[in-house]
Amino acid sequence: MARAAIVTGGTRGIGEAISLALRDMGMTVAANYAGNDDKAAAFTARTGIKAYKWDVGDHQACLDGVARVEAELGPVDVVVNNAGITRDGTLMKMSYDQWDEVIRVNLGGCFNMAKAVFAGMKSRGFGRIVNIGSINGQAGQYGQVNYASAKSGIHGFTKALAQEGARFGITVNAIAPGYIDTDMVAAVPGEVLEKIVAKIPAGRLGQAQEIARGVAFLCADDAGFVTGSTLSINGGQHMY
Ligand code: CAA
Repeated sequence: MARAAIVTGGTRGIGEAISLALRDMGMTVAANYAGNDDKAAAFTARTGIKAYKWDVGDHQACLDGVARVEAELGPVDVVVNNAGITRDGTLMKMSYDQWDEVIRVNLGGCFNMAKAVFAGMKSRGFGRIVNIGSINGQAGQYGQVNYASAKSGIHGFTKALAQEGARFGITVNAIAPGYIDTDMVAAVPGEVLEKIVAKIPAGRLGQAQEIARGVAFLCADDAGFVTGSTLSINGGQHMY
């Protein structure tokens, strides 16, 4: 039977590319999304991949959402925690809500999803969890104390959970994307983005498919000895 995979934030941007890559590997993919019904419906019409709506920052919603996917598609063997938001601003201007929302969704989402799938993966002796971190979690970024903290937390979460899963055939890895050509990066003010791109040795933004390529590698059945690692895909912007 084809393995079932959940990609959070899987209907747009990097998540869409990941959903397609896992589907192309023969998996049955459930693309989770939180808000944009129109874009999710268009994604399903375009790809045939079913979209499931829940907020990954909501613990109970994750338990219920995974149960719904498993009832329809079978046991979930692969989870890609890709869903993420930005609420940029310098500390002086950042509200508590901006801090809390980013930590709740970006970091809390990883915990919530892992809690929902880990016992099943353990009982079946197989699991692949890939968490999408960020170059800004590795290096920090002006105006992102919330996002950099959440993404840095994701890298710690990955290394801790990898140690817990290893004996049971569950690998847990992270990818640290650099600046990728998505709506999230397009929201950075033009003159700020220009300066960032000027510091990327490759001289360009990355493409979503270039992140999906790494995720596909980490999710493969024969990647079982790769765990607790972070794969940086950033055009040489930060070597860590
Ligand atoms: N280092 C040092 N100083 C800096 C700086 C930097 N990197 N960036 C800006 N400053 C300075 C500015 O020069 C300015 O100084 P002056 O007042 O003396 O001129 C001061 O800080 C204020 O800067 P802004 O005018 O930019 O402040 P703002 O409040 O209008 O905006 C901001 C702040 C919203 C954070 C804006 O700078 C911004 O959007 N920065 C980009 C943040 C970013 O890279 N986000 C990434 C989003 S994509 C993503 O996160 C995906 C991923 O994983 C990579």
